[in-house]
Amino acid sequence: MKALVVYFTESGCTRRVAQTIAEATGATLHELKAAEPYTAADLDWRDPGSRVNREANDPTERQSVKLEDTSVPDWDAYDVVFIGAPVWWGVAAWPIDDFLTSNDFTGKKLAAFVTSSSSSFGNESDVKDMAKGAQWLGGKRFPSSASDSAIRSWLESLALLRGDSRTRNDSTPLTSLFGDRYALRRSGRFVVWETCVFSSHRARGCRWNLEIAAVDLQPSGAMHPQPTGIPW
Ligand SMILES: Cc1cc2nc3c(=O)[nH]c(=O)nc-3n(C[C@H](O)[C@H](O)[C@H](O)COP(=O)(O)O)c2cc1C
Repeated sequence: MKALVVYFTESGCTRRVAQTIAEATGATLHELKAAEPYTAADLDWRDPGSRVNREANDPTERQSVKLEDTSVPDWDAYDVVFIGAPVWWGVAAWPIDDFLTSNDFTGKKLAAFVTSSSSSFGNESDVKDMAKGAQWLGGKRFPSSASDSAIRSWLESLALLRGDSRTRNDSTPLTSLFGDRYALRRSGRFVVWETCVFSSHRARGCRWNLEIAAVDLQPSGAMHPQPTGIPW
């Protein structure tokens, strides 16, 4: 797996999440910069006439926001792309839109993350739709100061953590996850239900408990416990 973490940030919170993702997955980091940088006055959400408020209220102004550069060196080599942004007025900050619409995601898996004070990831499906050709892995909102364990837990749910043996075989997420703790995925002929358990003595904080139930996809298949021998 060759992974890339592309992110836009104004005050550094999204960068910190991006760095944790890059460390945990072995990905390359790439920061996006607005062609016309935002000043503090531009970002003043209390001022109804500020640039960010004008853009938030006017789709035409929002769409005209361009990046300094939308290209990434060696783009074709990446098979997994993470894209991150802060939440501005309930949606992923729109400077990333230029990146999403300017690149061809065919053959790439895409996961998106946002950081916010409290709002959810309001436009997750728009982000997915802008990235033409991408295989969508899912989106995730983190608080501005997200914990490493929450970030790693998300990566584990996507089977994208470095050293996760599932990234080296064909274990594909079916639905990604339920909450942060459970995942249903396909592994060979089994559909596997996994539970994420936390272990305080482990540096990583979270590991996947493989004492799981598996459903055999063969016609005779039945639910049966399969604590060992899952082929990944
Ligand atoms: C213009 C602007 C709008 C924002 N809108 C929201 C919002 O709607 N909901 C929210 O929870 N946080 C909002 N925030 C807070 C940021 O999403 C949050 O601080 C984020 O983690 C900042 O990420 P960054 O440091 O990578 O720029 C806003 C911040 C700015 C500057």
